[in-house]
Formats: sequence, C-alpha cells, structure tokens
Amino acid sequence: MSEKVTVNTIRKMKNGQRIVMLTAYDYPSALYGDRSGAQIILVGDSLAQVVLGYENTLSITLEEMLHHTRAAGRGCHRAFLVADMPFGSYHESPVQAFGNACRFLKETPAQSVKLEGGVRMAETIRFLVDRAVPVMGHVGLTPQSFHQMGGYRVQGRGEEGLRNLLEDARAVQEAGAYSIVLEGIPAEAARLITGELTIPTIGIGAGPHCDGQVLVTNDLLGLYDQFTPKFVKKYAEIGKIMEEAFKQFYEEVTEGKFPEKQHSYE
Ligand code: KIV
Repeated sequence: MSEKVTVNTIRKMKNGQRIVMLTAYDYPSALYGDRSGAQIILVGDSLAQVVLGYENTLSITLEEMLHHTRAAGRGCHRAFLVADMPFGSYHESPVQAFGNACRFLKETPAQSVKLEGGVRMAETIRFLVDRAVPVMGHVGLTPQSFHQMGGYRVQGRGEEGLRNLLEDARAVQEAGAYSIVLEGIPAEAARLITGELTIPTIGIGAGPHCDGQVLVTNDLLGLYDQFTPKFVKKYAEIGKIMEEAFKQFYEEVTEGKFPEKQHSYE
C-alpha cells in the first residue's frame, strides 16, 4: 500500500497534478474507492439521497453521518478521509461547529470535515482551523441551501454572480481551508477561481479547469435512478446489473433451479 494521504499531500497538489475525489458511504464503497488510487474519499451528505432515499440533503442527521463515516473509515486505508458536516450541525455558531467537528475527528477515522458556504461561513472555518480541524470548503451550488437558492441552480452567472462567487472562494481560503469544492458553476468562473486561489479547487459540474474532480459515486456507477445532472458521466450501470442478477435469482428459486448440488452440504 502506498503512503497515507495527508492534508499536506493535498495542499502540494496545487502544482498541476490532478486530484481525484470519490464519495463513499460504507465499507465496500470506501474500500474500492481507496484501491482506485483516488487521493480523497468524501463521506458526502449526498448519502442522504443516494443511499438513504431522503428527498434532499437537509434531512440527514449528525448521528447518521457519524455512523456512515465510521463504516467508510474501515475501508479507507490510504486515501484522505473527509466527512461532510450535515445541515444544522455548524450553522448556529462556531462553537457548535467545533463541537460537532470534534465528534467526527474523535469518533470516526475522518481526517477533515467539509462544510458549505463562503463569506458567511468564514468565521466558522477560521474558528475550526485555529483549533486544529482541517476544513475543506464548498461554494457555488451548495445543496444544503437549495431552498434559499430557489432550487438547484447554477451559481456564479452574470457580473454580480461571479463577483459573489469570487468573494466566497477568497473568504474560504483566507479563513484557512486547505482546499475547496466548486459545485455547479460555469467552467470559466472555475478557471478564474482556480487561477487565483493558492489552495486546490475540486470541481463538480464546474468544468475541466479545476485542480481536481469529484463525482457522487452512486451517480458514476449508475446506482441512483432518481435524477442525473448534466455534469455526471456514468462509468457503469451497476443498478441494471443488480436488477438483472436479482431477477435471475428470483427465477431460479421460483423454478427450483437454485440451489444445485454444489451449493448444498452432503
Ligand atoms: O455530498 C456530496 O457528495 C458532496 C460532493 C458532491 C462534493 O458534497
């Protein structure tokens, strides 16, 4: 196994190397993600929708995130493990955010937390970083704010949109985050931000100019059939393969074809 990825590895990857981040929510997804060579495994709160079947990410609780981060941690041996702080677990105050971030660092193998928000979260990010909690930022289309954004809308469009987005990204960096996710923004905006920031940017629906890329694992595996955003590339159709295998099992049991002699004890 190659060396464990640390926050320093990620910081140094601003040098033109591409960062690969995958989401994982349990032992097998983290294990195979880790084996792929990805530098970062994120236990994203997308867990809420793609695994737990909630309608959006607002419903997931801190306890659910901790439970799945522990499971993913058992499969993540080399990659840097990041846990998403769920909605409501860091918004009240920096002190609340620190208390809950500590739970990830103490009760799971997570090495960092991620939280959504730019300028308005800068004070909280600084508070955590000053207390030895590595923070990954997340700006642009921030799914936890979808009610406020009026839906899942591309952010950073137009002069004002771009200005606000740049301010958010700068605020996250100045607050001490070691990297930042740029989600759902025009490719040109991501190019500008990536060129200006000294911390690595990791894009999702943000075009090709970021320092790294992330996709929700269940989207790239074809394992979430509710909605597929334009920016997703499906690398497999695991959902279809599962359905086919389950149907075959159903048929063989119904027709008395399974189990056969080799599946039975003498
Ligand atoms: O929750 C998640 O999976 C995320 C990624 C899309 C960055 O935040």
